[in-house]
Amino acid sequence: KLYQEQHRPQFHFSPAKGWMNDPNGMFFYKGEYHLFYQHYPDKTIWGPMHWGHAVSKNLTHWENLPIALYPDSLGYIFSGSAVVDWKNTSGFGINNQPPLVAIFTYHNMEGEKAGRGDFETQGIAYSNDKGRTWTKFSGNPVVKNTGTRDFRDPKVIWDEAHKQWVMSLAVQDHHEFWVSKNLKEWENSGNFGKEWGNHGGVWECADMFPLKDGNVTKWVLIVNINPGGPNGGSGTQYFVGDFDGKTFILDEALKPFVKNGNGLWLDYGKDNYAGVTWSDIPKADGRRILIGWMSNWQYANIVPTGVWRSAATLPRVLSLKSTSQGYRVSVNPVKELQALRNPAKKALQLSNLNIASSLDVASKLNFKPTLSELELSFEKPQKGKVEIEISNSKGEKYIIGYDSENNTFFSDRTKSGKVDFSDTFAEKVHLAPRLASDKIIKLHVYFDVSSAELFADNGETVITDIFFPNEDYTKMKINTSEKNFKIKTLKVWNLKSTWK
Ligand code: FRU
Repeated sequence: KLYQEQHRPQFHFSPAKGWMNDPNGMFFYKGEYHLFYQHYPDKTIWGPMHWGHAVSKNLTHWENLPIALYPDSLGYIFSGSAVVDWKNTSGFGINNQPPLVAIFTYHNMEGEKAGRGDFETQGIAYSNDKGRTWTKFSGNPVVKNTGTRDFRDPKVIWDEAHKQWVMSLAVQDHHEFWVSKNLKEWENSGNFGKEWGNHGGVWECADMFPLKDGNVTKWVLIVNINPGGPNGGSGTQYFVGDFDGKTFILDEALKPFVKNGNGLWLDYGKDNYAGVTWSDIPKADGRRILIGWMSNWQYANIVPTGVWRSAATLPRVLSLKSTSQGYRVSVNPVKELQALRNPAKKALQLSNLNIASSLDVASKLNFKPTLSELELSFEKPQKGKVEIEISNSKGEKYIIGYDSENNTFFSDRTKSGKVDFSDTFAEKVHLAPRLASDKIIKLHVYFDVSSAELFADNGETVITDIFFPNEDYTKMKINTSEKNFKIKTLKVWNLKSTWK
């Protein structure tokens, strides 16, 4: 049965069948969170790209809808965004309802095969029926290419201060900004990035948006990059600064941290890529919500799943965090996920517990940790490691934790089960520097059959990794090499499947 196969995530979005990569075109309209995604319905490998589609009323339960956009004579439908055109600037609206407008990249395979440099252009499509059907604009492409091979992934926002649409576009080794009054005619207004950040690979999937810290408004620029990620392959870096209506201006305070190839990373795991944020979240809500693709181009096409390939990350809220070294972005799971905590299975709650070297958590649970959420806090150890280990009866295990030796969080899937399908999948333990300096360390982790997501120190350091045990992990332990280790608090919830 669909959604019950081995390795199938139970509270993450994944396509019923076929291939998925980047999340695309997310917006909120009339009570629905829309999620589109790079999709090849016919095979479980990357191919002719469509936009798959799903909606949710609560960011946890997803309903699959028919494919929204099919490839056509202009090309495959690559990544992009969608907006509610409230003022009908595009003129696509009917019956006094705002049109929904999608802005995406056309990738022309013939052009690419012919060795041309202008095969990526931007097109638009609109919907007048709550996103159920989409009509491509007859004047496509709306942004032509003047000869740059990588020229894609338009992410559009409404800029209220300048009464204009702003498109962030990924162009090989930088991001470009294009502005428009009507979503049809666009003008390049500025560029950013050649001299800053990580350039280990091509810049893809841009996003730029304001975030508030009290009365201060800062602009965050997201740059997905492949390869060049912090633990290899694809990854997501970001910058904090301002937007002057034309271009992004990097904060002075951040410059030391994003020069000479260094980047700030939204996630240190290997499996959070191409993440961008929802458009049109109501003002009263005010959140900036991101979702990523929970895989990595190093091995995405060969992970050992059945009728589908890839899932999305959990939806996450981005917030600004003021530090002595400038602004940083913290990332935390959306609060809606709390509704997945299963009231039928009593949660475990412990506090002030001394551990010699290992605590058998599973023996204290009246459920299996296969689908679980865990919160653990402890005082920063003097020397040792603190590990959360989940494992199965075959001796396969996945470990996530903190290592005081080098002040890093880590994720170890080297013995997690099926790892041989790729040389890069389990070549090393993934490390993530601890940015916070509080005495108490807090780990917040979600386990969902084949993935772990760690939000450490209230989202200051994040790790997302996938794994494929031959049999589900049903055991859970907390291990430590620290003498006199004491758990301050531990909570473990059983989470419900959203697909049953
Ligand atoms: C990122 C990406 C995008 C592109 C899409 C193609 O993962 O390479 O740049 O639009 O995937 O599927």
